[in-house]
Amino acid sequence: NQIYIGVDLGGTNIKVGICDEQGNLLHTYEGPTGAEEGPDAVLGRIAQYVRKIVEDSPYEWEQVAGIGAGLAGFLDIQEGVVKFSPNLQWRNVEAKRTLEALLGKPVKIDNDANVAALGEAWAGAGAGVPNIVCYTLGTGVGGGIIINGKIYQGSNGMAGELGHMAIVPDIEAINCGCGQVGCLETVSSATGIIRMAKEAVERGEHTSLALHENMEAKHVFDAAKSGDEVALRIVNRAAYYLGRSMASISIVLNPKRFVIGGGVSKAGEILFAPIRETFKKYTPEVAAEGVEIVAATLGNDAGVVGAAGLNLR
Ligand code: BGC
Ligand code: NA
Ligand code: ZN
Repeated sequence: NQIYIGVDLGGTNIKVGICDEQGNLLHTYEGPTGAEEGPDAVLGRIAQYVRKIVEDSPYEWEQVAGIGAGLAGFLDIQEGVVKFSPNLQWRNVEAKRTLEALLGKPVKIDNDANVAALGEAWAGAGAGVPNIVCYTLGTGVGGGIIINGKIYQGSNGMAGELGHMAIVPDIEAINCGCGQVGCLETVSSATGIIRMAKEAVERGEHTSLALHENMEAKHVFDAAKSGDEVALRIVNRAAYYLGRSMASISIVLNPKRFVIGGGVSKAGEILFAPIRETFKKYTPEVAAEGVEIVAATLGNDAGVVGAAGLNLR
């Protein structure tokens, strides 16, 4: 039997998984990213975790038929290079070559959100639906476009960077980690939500959010659920721009389903209801009809399953 390894590189943790030929996730292992140590150290850790998960499993190294890794940032898929990662602050990192040298096996890399989308398309909220567009809402806002069951890569692998759609009007726009202004990520990521919450507190607005020393996006959603007006306004703003971006994407690509994953998506209806409402408001009725906006179902596993799938599909 052959096995397939998937790697999901996150800002804090690296998750590794073993899948069988059908894409069933058999084993997982998670270890720290150590992002502050820089790209070489991080790639070294990935290689170390990949070897470890196979060693600790009933499988032999010889059975590893392929390794796939989902990495955050703008990638050149053909060259296997991370051209630029706004959140990791990586530039021109030769990820594929380095990992292949460390592991002695073929490695495929793709964008973290693209592989999560592939995972969802394959075994999650997009199963059986050929055209879906996925968002991952976490530290950043990632995107993955699946057309006819396959990741749409664009000309050089940078398609689907939904977090950097320039969507917030200049008058309200702030700088994004990518170097542009007004990106979706600045308002709809966990980082953006936390920033808006802290700003409201600093302005002295009347809100229960003032009680939190270490603000988390979850605090903002919880406060919104219990009727905190300031928190609600922040959640609605994050949702509004997501809904507007979906209206635009819907008009361009006509997907059947939008799938929203990542930590922030766990907020549930408080987030999804205003997204759907905005989407409807800005999409012509005939085009909006039948379009679904749903939560991802694979949770934390989407990335590893999708990454393993890079060698399976
Ligand atoms: C990056 C994407 C990534 C997303 C989520 C964004 O800032 O540009 O490549 O998919 O964050 O990690
Ligand atoms: Na992407
Ligand atoms: Zn940006």
